[in-house]
Amino acid sequence: MFSLLPYNTFGLEVQADAGVVVRSRHDLQLPLADPYLIIGRGSDVLFTDDFAGTALIAGVRGIEVQHTGRSFEVRVGAGEILDELIVTLLQQGITGLENLSAIPGTVGAAPIQNIGAYGVEIGDYITSVEAVDLRSGQYVILSREECCFGYRDSYFKQHKEEKLFVLYVNLSFPDRFIPHLTYQGLKDKELKDAQAVRAEVMALRARKLPDPRFVGNAGSFFKNPVVDKNTVERLRAQWPDMPVFTAGKDRYKLAAGWLIDKADCRGITHGHAGTWEHQALVLVNRGQAKPHEIVSLGKYICTEVAHKFGVELVPEVRLYGRYGEVEWNSL
Ligand code: EPU
Repeated sequence: MFSLLPYNTFGLEVQADAGVVVRSRHDLQLPLADPYLIIGRGSDVLFTDDFAGTALIAGVRGIEVQHTGRSFEVRVGAGEILDELIVTLLQQGITGLENLSAIPGTVGAAPIQNIGAYGVEIGDYITSVEAVDLRSGQYVILSREECCFGYRDSYFKQHKEEKLFVLYVNLSFPDRFIPHLTYQGLKDKELKDAQAVRAEVMALRARKLPDPRFVGNAGSFFKNPVVDKNTVERLRAQWPDMPVFTAGKDRYKLAAGWLIDKADCRGITHGHAGTWEHQALVLVNRGQAKPHEIVSLGKYICTEVAHKFGVELVPEVRLYGRYGEVEWNSL
């Protein structure tokens, strides 16, 4: 048995039948016996059960930097910790990822969800992703366009059947600091350099989000729902102060945290699971929680929000059951 406790930030005591830390592509003994799953640090994952197969842990290390012309080209092993990468880059004067400071997780997982925070998405900086197709054993390189980045979305999520194991992520950064201060909490601050942005982002996160080292959680549990104009108008008529963000033509993003909060689900506790007092979108393990307790709290929240607002919440975290990834609606 292989404990998945170090590989899920919810802090659930789940196990896989076996586990392999993949430090280079040669650690992949192909073809693999089914079922298997690919994981970094499990910071965006909910295990709904023990896993009856092999967990492949992304463990490729290394950060290579090249200064070419007016940019820095950086190749990073999928097993590097994203926040450690940000620190290393800032030490070398390479800026761009500071808004993503303190997000838990690995570099290899970042393009899968196209992680984002405080006005920046990792996909903005990725030039390509190197991976192994675990079915054929072929080495593939996906360009940024081929990665099809969207809001918490990418080619990797859209084509789960392809079983792409990310080995390296290539990124490009301009060789001067370009601040991204569109987020409400950063707008009016005097942030003169990237280190100041990092410090402010870390302070913001500490106010709103629980640190998974102390309180098990996987960040936002649901995505912010994207809806049409009619839905916004219907809701705004009743809740004029509801936050709404534009998200393309006739598309509007609602704040799931606000909806959950207004549905009286902020800071609640069901069994050993709960929602964070300062950010209702974050489900937490209050200690010794079992997977089914997190699932049933999530279901309860969906029902309350659907009942009050007529809006469907969809998980942002990926769900893994006994034999592999599972859909929320099947639980
Ligand atoms: N809000 C409430 N009550 C709550 C939570 C939020 O009223 O309990 C309101 C806030 O006041 C704000 C709005 O809802 O007006 C949005 O909240 P916030 O700014 O905290 O951001 P979010 O939309 O809830 C998203 C990302 C976060 C990311 C932040 C900052 C998603 C699903 N989540 O959260 O990402 O850190 O923006 O950019 O897009 C993650 O993906 O795990 C994650 C934490």
